[in-house]
Amino acid sequence: MKKFPDNFFWGAATASFQVEGGIDNNDWTMAAYESRVPVCGEACDHYHRYEADFDLAKGLGHTAHRFSVEWSRIEPVEGKFDMKEIEHYRTVLKALRTRGIMPIVTLWHFTLPVWFAERGGFETKDSPAVFARYAAFVVHQLGDLCVHYSTMNEPNVYATHGYLYGVWPPFKQARVLWKKIGKSDGTARQARPTARFAHFFAYRRVEKNLIKAHNMAYELMKRFAPQSQISVVKHVHVFEARGVWWRRLMANKMQEYQTHSFLEAVQDSLDEIGLNYYRSTTFGDIKNYLETDMGWKAYPSGIYKALKVLSVYQKPIFVAEAGLADEDDDMRADYIRLQVRAIARALEDGVDVRGHLYWSLLDNYEWALGFEKRFGLIAVDYKTQTRTIRPSAYVYKEIITQNGVVE
Ligand code: BGC
Repeated sequence: MKKFPDNFFWGAATASFQVEGGIDNNDWTMAAYESRVPVCGEACDHYHRYEADFDLAKGLGHTAHRFSVEWSRIEPVEGKFDMKEIEHYRTVLKALRTRGIMPIVTLWHFTLPVWFAERGGFETKDSPAVFARYAAFVVHQLGDLCVHYSTMNEPNVYATHGYLYGVWPPFKQARVLWKKIGKSDGTARQARPTARFAHFFAYRRVEKNLIKAHNMAYELMKRFAPQSQISVVKHVHVFEARGVWWRRLMANKMQEYQTHSFLEAVQDSLDEIGLNYYRSTTFGDIKNYLETDMGWKAYPSGIYKALKVLSVYQKPIFVAEAGLADEDDDMRADYIRLQVRAIARALEDGVDVRGHLYWSLLDNYEWALGFEKRFGLIAVDYKTQTRTIRPSAYVYKEIITQNGVVE
């Protein structure tokens, strides 16, 4: 049995738009009106059912939970904050705390209020300051109930999908010289975006502004809630190589570009780092792998390398998301076991890992792919809102209860 440190936390994660339902004032709802992405509608109705959902999480042994607050609810109009929504999230936090579940709050998980999107989103010069004002307001309001905050989820994924591939709002697809950049992966339903040269520069601007937005938010948040522990949640696509030197070089360059370029620029404004791990590419690998329902290579042990990649920043790390789409639930239990073993190995190597949050607690809205993909420990019947605990959730519970995993 590989044992974990006593204070290691275990749980799952969600994000506001993917589970709450009833959100009608953000860029994704607008995109759905134009039939560019699937309608999200009531989703899991978690906005009203969070108490019952947290009861399930508690029953499954969870000791931590990551969720995001919806910017468009809290600041529906520029500079005007809705105290009713703050009260809602305060009640959500209390619901977690009374169940002994430690909350970790993400301030921005991909969706933008309509007013912010319409004024140019993160392309505009003052967008970092506007975001920082929102972030500071939220921690000021929630600070007595929560310590851990992530300013943003997967900034690079947001920028590539919205500004290179053109499959997420604002659907800008980039072109350099004659070539469309990135894949148009068939996820945006209609109205294919036109690839433009200028979009590449918009993409670069957004990347830079996201760095500024985090750094400014960090500073302001610390002023309003000095005790808060602030992170960025960073997606780490692991790149490895077999054989010849140039493949290794390529893997290093990709890791550098996709992981380190952002983190190096924010590392002085980070108390901890959230890791999202899903993907791994090994150049020159000829092995066959099982695939998840997303068509992604199932390689749970790759999280070891992802943790090592992040360890150079010498900050506490928590796994903010890691999981798979697996409707039949025939891969999930093994996936979790292997992943947890790989985390144990990273701990043995001295990596400061503090917790593991499976993605996701519930089946949910998988962005441009709608509701088909099933990531949940708990299955959701969207017609009746019935929850059914998947067998793999009990395997995870066993790991949590033992605070360890069989070798
Ligand atoms: C995102 C989630 C998403 C998950 C699975 C992560 O990139 O943070 O919102 O549902 O991956 O694709």
